[in-house]
Amino acid sequence: MKTQAKASAPAKVILLGEHFVVHGEPAIVLAIDRRATVTVKMRSDQKIFIKSEDIGISGFFINDQFSPLKGGGEAERKLEPIYAVAREIIQKYHLKNGVNIEIESSIPIAAGLGSSAAVSVASAAALLSLFDLNKSKDDIFKIAFNAEKIIHGTPSGVDPAISTYGGILWYRKSQPIRRLDIDVDLPLIIGNTKKERSTGELVAKVNTLRRHYPSIIKKIIKAGGEIVKRSVKALREGDLKTLGELMNINHELLCAVGVSCEELENLVHAARNAGALGAKLTGAGGGGCMIALVSPEKIEDVAEAIDEAGGEVLITRKTDAGVTIER
Ligand code: MEV
Repeated sequence: MKTQAKASAPAKVILLGEHFVVHGEPAIVLAIDRRATVTVKMRSDQKIFIKSEDIGISGFFINDQFSPLKGGGEAERKLEPIYAVAREIIQKYHLKNGVNIEIESSIPIAAGLGSSAAVSVASAAALLSLFDLNKSKDDIFKIAFNAEKIIHGTPSGVDPAISTYGGILWYRKSQPIRRLDIDVDLPLIIGNTKKERSTGELVAKVNTLRRHYPSIIKKIIKAGGEIVKRSVKALREGDLKTLGELMNINHELLCAVGVSCEELENLVHAARNAGALGAKLTGAGGGGCMIALVSPEKIEDVAEAIDEAGGEVLITRKTDAGVTIER
């Protein structure tokens, strides 16, 4: 039996289809080269100790009771999904030992880049490896998805899916995960508003709007799905102009369901004015990040415009590496 194991999982950007994916439409999502790394160590008692150095929180769970060490009450809310991953594995496989779980991450948190899913996925993979449970990526995805449901209410599963499998995915809830083997280099710039927000609250906001205005909101959701379907052709043909236009339309639909905000609008319009082919919020919205699709000669102009409009520019690349056991 091992005494220690380590795994990492990537962040993501949703190219098209966030929120509408919660309501059964497809989304296109890609993994990016920022990762969460989780190291787990066996304990001789039954405590689950979790520490995230980057955000300065830590504490113990024992029999579902939390004792914070660092970060106070906030710590429990943030560490709960990781505890849920550990609890599920320990209970399901009748394990006797507790564990220490340490998280390091280069993914901005609560920013729409899938930081919590990446941590859940890496935690599940590291724990399964520690206990020599030889499980598939599908098992890792399912465990992380269950944990996501605790924090995000009714998530679609797109975030844990991309963190598990990497690459570019066509994701539709309850359907087999489909990898899109598209050989186009997507020149994307990410702009972070640095305004943190809760995915669960934003998903709930769209649910409420849909309940109040079903005939209107259902059409918007459907149109969101049509955009994703149309974008596959543009992606396959390397038609970045069309893709940019589709991103712009997608953004306006997201505004219509109330998940943009002034900070995101500022960055999106700054990017478009500086010559981006398209720009939209990415992830849950309400703050967090936007993405701009940019032709190579406009990269500097667009990055500068996002910076001047108050955004933090993140330069990333697509990665094919999903969840990975680290040696
Ligand atoms: C969050 O990254 C994406 C949302 O569509 C929620 C989800 O799909 O679970 C807003």
